[in-house]
Amino acid sequence: MNIHYDIKEGLFHLQHEKMSYCMAVLRTGHLAHLYVGPPLKGPLQVSFFRVDQNKGLTAYPGPGEFGLSLGVERMEYPSFGTSDFREPAIALEAKTGETSLDLRYHSHEILPGKPNLSPMPSTRPHQADEGMTLEIKLFDALRGVSCYLTYTLFKGLGGIVRSARLTNESRETLNLKRLMSLNVDLMDQNWEWVQFTGDWIRERAMTKHPIRVGVQSIGSRRGASSAHQNPFLILKRPHTTEDAGEALGLSLVYSGNFLILGEGDHNGHTRIMAGIHPGDFSWELRPGDSFQTPEAVLVYSQEGLNALSQNLHRFIHQHIIHPKWHNHQRPICLNNWEATYFDFDEEKLIRLAQAGKSLGMEMLVLDDGWFGQRNNDQTSLGDWTVNLKKLPSGLKGLSEKLHDLGMQFGLWIEPEMVNLTSKFALDHPDWIIREPRREPCHARNQYVLDFSRKEVVEAIYEQLTALLDQTPVDYIKWDMNRNMTDVYSLALPPHRQGELHHRYILGVYDLYERLTQRYPHILFESCSAGGGRFDLGMLYYAPQTWTSDNTDAVERLKIQYGTSMAYPLSTMAAHVSQVPNHQTHRVTPLKLRHDVARFGVLGYELDVTLLTEKEKEDIRQEIKSYKTYRQDLLYGDFYRLVSPFDTHGHQTAWMVVAKDQSRAILGWYQVLASPNPPLSHLPLSGLDPLGLYVIDGTDQVYGGADLMALGLLIQPSYNGIHKTNDPSGDYQSRLVVLNRL
Ligand code: DGJ
Repeated sequence: MNIHYDIKEGLFHLQHEKMSYCMAVLRTGHLAHLYVGPPLKGPLQVSFFRVDQNKGLTAYPGPGEFGLSLGVERMEYPSFGTSDFREPAIALEAKTGETSLDLRYHSHEILPGKPNLSPMPSTRPHQADEGMTLEIKLFDALRGVSCYLTYTLFKGLGGIVRSARLTNESRETLNLKRLMSLNVDLMDQNWEWVQFTGDWIRERAMTKHPIRVGVQSIGSRRGASSAHQNPFLILKRPHTTEDAGEALGLSLVYSGNFLILGEGDHNGHTRIMAGIHPGDFSWELRPGDSFQTPEAVLVYSQEGLNALSQNLHRFIHQHIIHPKWHNHQRPICLNNWEATYFDFDEEKLIRLAQAGKSLGMEMLVLDDGWFGQRNNDQTSLGDWTVNLKKLPSGLKGLSEKLHDLGMQFGLWIEPEMVNLTSKFALDHPDWIIREPRREPCHARNQYVLDFSRKEVVEAIYEQLTALLDQTPVDYIKWDMNRNMTDVYSLALPPHRQGELHHRYILGVYDLYERLTQRYPHILFESCSAGGGRFDLGMLYYAPQTWTSDNTDAVERLKIQYGTSMAYPLSTMAAHVSQVPNHQTHRVTPLKLRHDVARFGVLGYELDVTLLTEKEKEDIRQEIKSYKTYRQDLLYGDFYRLVSPFDTHGHQTAWMVVAKDQSRAILGWYQVLASPNPPLSHLPLSGLDPLGLYVIDGTDQVYGGADLMALGLLIQPSYNGIHKTNDPSGDYQSRLVVLNRL
């Protein structure tokens, strides 16, 4: 790992064992992007990457300049108005109405470690001196702005962490309209754009298309990163598979409005940029003010998508999630939501906890409905005081009783929201995000608090700490069940309303920061009606996320498969629920539900007091087995083998391999049977090629290399590995544990 600057060539080379990233200061002082790809050894010259080109209908920056047009070059951080006609990474407006920008290289520094971006979540070095950072200062003398581009290399990451900061060094106020975290101008257009798209209860479906000439984008203007588009993109070569070929992954450490944009230009290049969505965004930059973007993580793989994901997973474990939760054995929870919805009392909860405990569960999570008069979704958000009718001994009493039973206690909150009839909203009607003269849109009968205001965050903080100081709580599920409309803050002047979205999410981060500092022992799980805010910004505070409100095992195959492209299994909460499933009304075997949910943070979300003896025994066995393999399932290397997106959802297979390759756990799933199927072999991945593996519960021994070359013989109704008692074809699953001898 090294950051090298060749003064003679003006060439920066960021070298990592897995990739190189190169830029150059051109003769005009503009910063060009040269290369991202397999590691280059050098010596390098700028002429290897670019030559002067004179083209018709082309503008050139400055008098006398020919051959070097910003619109023809591949730029590192492009702006508009000075010969580049493509999408800019930065845009601002001076008081005079002038908008052009001409950023040229000024200086750079190479620093050990990395700067902290507080008050925003940002990647953490393990140790203070881990990583290396390059900061390049670009300057526009006329406009009086400095733009700092920051690049950090981490030892474990085959990639780069980037961000940008703009400082107004002029004597007048500027209106910042766009400042992206990252821009890369790739050399060619032979890429597929892979995005993770969906909606409530069908998050992160993998869809792809070839890069087109023109602009394509994903983004969110909902005030949250969203279930609709995840702030993560893969660019892969058309022939790239899970196990071979080039791919780039791009992820934002941000939970608010975002844009990831691609532009195929007319010179055969692909411009990719990512950052805060410029729609609805503006920022008043007074003289001396700076604006810092969130970070973007760019990873590169030459070895297919599994390697790309594993790289990101490692990175999330080491540099996003708080060290306290590294390798932490997440508790198996029993969540009362689908078991009771709003209809519970202390007695019922204790009965659930007792039954759960007897099956091996470790924590009861009390979901929505414990506060104010909340017996449905129309009331009480904002009034965070316990409902003593339902819980006569209060939260403290309930928590103590659960702890006496040997169960941890988890609590649901939704701190960013109010119902209009709550005391909180009635006392502070101006603390809601809404325009003053229009009735605001509601969603689930609730409204969004103006977290851009410090006093609002403070008031919620006070309510929550009053509660949490007195109640032993082990886990918090922080929910967020609607997106923002009527975006207007009564605390901001008209010309600064464009700051609201970003200020809001900074307020959310502030509350997270203060609560996690004050209660470092509490494990947070983020949630937004399921996976509506599954992003690296949230994972910085909350090491796991409620992956989806959809608990149907068949749907979860796709959701968890898509999610795994960016996020490790330790971040995905996955619950076994009852059938018919509450979201799809589908009836699937308990085995399938278990075999899917164990590839994640296993939990339960059903009335365990109503189970048959057989179901109880199955759950007991499953939990015992999950506990045996929990460390590998949460922190081993995850390999996707068969994609539900390639098989119309009918087949899926994946596996986890222990870090030392001593064990592997394979999950194979068939949703619908096909008649008289041919024999099929499933090649495995990630095993020790020299090792011998025995299939748990059998005396069958295979060579690791053979399992990866030939594969395991999988026959749906009788697979030669495990005889199944349920030979009917639909909804089958196999769980195979391989131990190295
Ligand atoms: C949405 C969440 O995703 C559910 O799990 C549950 O907590 C409900 N909200 C409660 O209102």
